[in-house]
Amino acid sequence: MTQTIGIIGSGLVGKAVARLAIAAGYNVVISNSRGPSTLSTLVNELGSKARAGTVEETIAAGDIVTLSVPLATFEKLPANAFAGKTVLDQSNYYPGMGEFRRADLDAGELTSSELMQRHLKGAKLVKGLHNLSWIHMESNARPAGHADRTTLPIAGDEGAAKATVAGFIEAIGYNVVDAGSLAESWRIEPNTAIYFWRYAPKVPDGVSHEEAKRIYQQRGEPVSPQEARKLIDEAVRPSPIGGTLEGMPQVHVDLFLEQASADTIKQ
Ligand SMILES: NC(=O)c1ccc[n+]([C@@H]2O[C@H](COP(=O)([O-])OP(=O)(O)OC[C@H]3O[C@@H](n4cnc5c(N)ncnc54)[C@H](OP(=O)(O)O)[C@@H]3O)[C@@H](O)[C@H]2O)c1
Repeated sequence: MTQTIGIIGSGLVGKAVARLAIAAGYNVVISNSRGPSTLSTLVNELGSKARAGTVEETIAAGDIVTLSVPLATFEKLPANAFAGKTVLDQSNYYPGMGEFRRADLDAGELTSSELMQRHLKGAKLVKGLHNLSWIHMESNARPAGHADRTTLPIAGDEGAAKATVAGFIEAIGYNVVDAGSLAESWRIEPNTAIYFWRYAPKVPDGVSHEEAKRIYQQRGEPVSPQEARKLIDEAVRPSPIGGTLEGMPQVHVDLFLEQASADTIKQ
């Protein structure tokens, strides 16, 4: 039974997953690139179900281990420490950010999660909790049976690992649909119909900046499992491949900068 979520990465997404997991009753071990001593403020905020660890301790402790890190860091992860682990890959390919670009990803020869799987030997990798922003990851979560509960896709090659990850995502507030294998996970990558926008609320034109921020932090219109299935089945492979920041709404950029500055002050 899943009891402990190991979270590698304590940034926007790592923190969001930690809060959701703890709210659902899981224990959390969280790590970053700078070491556990830099995580005391966050762990205090998260409470008694959270502790900080090294990356290796996080992997060892997690029944599920999340990769809440930029894809560009994949070669820095300890490749041999993941054997047999169920791994939830939240990373996305954003070429241009940090100048990370690969010809095989650009050409669609493999998906970003296949790249991650090749590196993390023996890991049972499942892509998921990757296709909505850190804000909407929390604002869209609803308990089972709630009329506003929305649906998220997962992809992976291991049936048992997919079931474990689906159970976790369902417990933190979402319906889950299976989008297929890691090779097929391009159907849920950046710039597809099920990526990002479908989970963000529409901000009407002409509202004040403060009102735009307030509205934007609410949930998007719920996606039913049937709609999610349709979006996945009808997906067209994006061209070019990979996300960009240019298409992000200004309100998103402003909230990102506010969060980054708040985090800097806390450290
Ligand atoms: N932001 C979003 O809304 C969003 C939504 C869905 C998915 N994603 C994906 O989730 C991933 C993380 O995004 P983010 O926005 O949370 O990034 P972020 O705020 O920049 O946080 C990245 C975290 O990764 C840690 N990290 C980097 N290299 C590491 C390493 N070698 N070992 C351990 N930890 C390492 C960093 O450690 P330090 O704190 O020590 O620097 C930091 O805590 C990305 O792949 C992104 O595409 C993001």
